[in-house]
Amino acid sequence: KSAITNDDDYKVRKKLDEADDLLELGQLDEALQKFDSIIRKHPTSPRAHAGKADVLDKLAEKKRSNQLLEESIKVYGQLLTFPDVPAELMKKSARRLADRQQFRGWGRQSVKTMQFLVDRFPDDVQLQRELGVNHLMVGQDKEAKQVFEKILKIHPDDGFAMVHLGFVYQTSDSNPQKAIPLLLVGINSNDPGTQDGRFYFQLGSALQREGRTEEAEAVYQRGANKGLFLSAHQRSLYNVDSLTGRPWWTKEQTGYQKYLKLLEDNWKVIRDEGLSQLNSETGDFMPEDEDLREKGDWKQLTMYAQGRKKSKVCAKVPKTCALIDQIEPAKGCRRGQVKFSVMQPGVHVWPHCGPTNCRIRAHLGLVVPEGPMIRVVNETRTWKEGKFIIFDDSFEHEVWHDGKSFRLVLIVDFWHPELSESLRRSLSPI
Ligand code: LMR
Ligand code: MN
Repeated sequence: KSAITNDDDYKVRKKLDEADDLLELGQLDEALQKFDSIIRKHPTSPRAHAGKADVLDKLAEKKRSNQLLEESIKVYGQLLTFPDVPAELMKKSARRLADRQQFRGWGRQSVKTMQFLVDRFPDDVQLQRELGVNHLMVGQDKEAKQVFEKILKIHPDDGFAMVHLGFVYQTSDSNPQKAIPLLLVGINSNDPGTQDGRFYFQLGSALQREGRTEEAEAVYQRGANKGLFLSAHQRSLYNVDSLTGRPWWTKEQTGYQKYLKLLEDNWKVIRDEGLSQLNSETGDFMPEDEDLREKGDWKQLTMYAQGRKKSKVCAKVPKTCALIDQIEPAKGCRRGQVKFSVMQPGVHVWPHCGPTNCRIRAHLGLVVPEGPMIRVVNETRTWKEGKFIIFDDSFEHEVWHDGKSFRLVLIVDFWHPELSESLRRSLSPI
């Protein structure tokens, strides 16, 4: 413990050790009293504050109390301002503080905490890496880039910085040419933190967008061999193991025949409501915003997302929503959406995979001209008015529309039929 004990704390080390022991034993109230009594006599004792903050943190977790969590955050924060805090204790406490701030939803505060640490220990690369990740977690992509670029200036072989910088170039700037070498060399470094599905995913995607298909395939295969993907073609990253995975599904395979029939039987009603919202003045269709398109005009009107109904949208297409409301595995699918999707001629959607293997995606054709096509893995199909096509969008799929007029479909995500009720309830929404 010498590395976390300054000269003043050394004088009361026995008391501090005792309080630490109580904390370790889970005797939280007693530990808190003991730390408090030390603090009364030694108001800037680093170890007593670190211990007190740890206790409050544990109590907060036990009692699920934000108030206690905030008290813990406050005490960690005080500690950072004290003179003569041993480096190791400073790093440990500030890291914990940043983590707790993140957990509390105070992401920007968390970034500030990490920035404080980096300024204090400018030669510690690991802290800079963590700062970069914190920036990413709160969507500060530009700042993250600066941090990782700065690391690479001094440590040009830092694989961790490379994969993260490449990731931002691909996801934030859509710049595959910058992303590819960074992701590739970063992954090949095998450094800690580089063997993550997200980096293989984005490297492959960048290669595909550059037309380097075979190299992309090889990256996906490597990712699958490492167990980062379910397979080279099924690259969702939020998965439940051992669910049946196949690119295309029949109605019978889903077990949802009666629901699919209900919607097919009513397809004209659904179509007319979808059409009524296509007016750009009065409708709410939104351009696809996940950077999936190479080109063209593709918009969606979302009625349900993450298992929640959007009442304002449903007010505009009430009959469609009344139908969906009868379909529990769709309206309650917290890892999917129900939406209209309109595609104008000229669209190309890059090959991509959805985020999760927990849903099955059904498309009901509503307005289907000649021209649009969808490939899932190695089988390409098209839509038919009034009929469903069903696929698992965690598998690679790609869409083209080379026709002369728009295509309109209703997209309905269903829970994967093999997911138990209790799993459905416990999975985090996507
Ligand atoms: C997709 O899910 O990526 C596309 O199939 C959506 C669409 O409108 O065809
Ligand atoms: Mn898709």
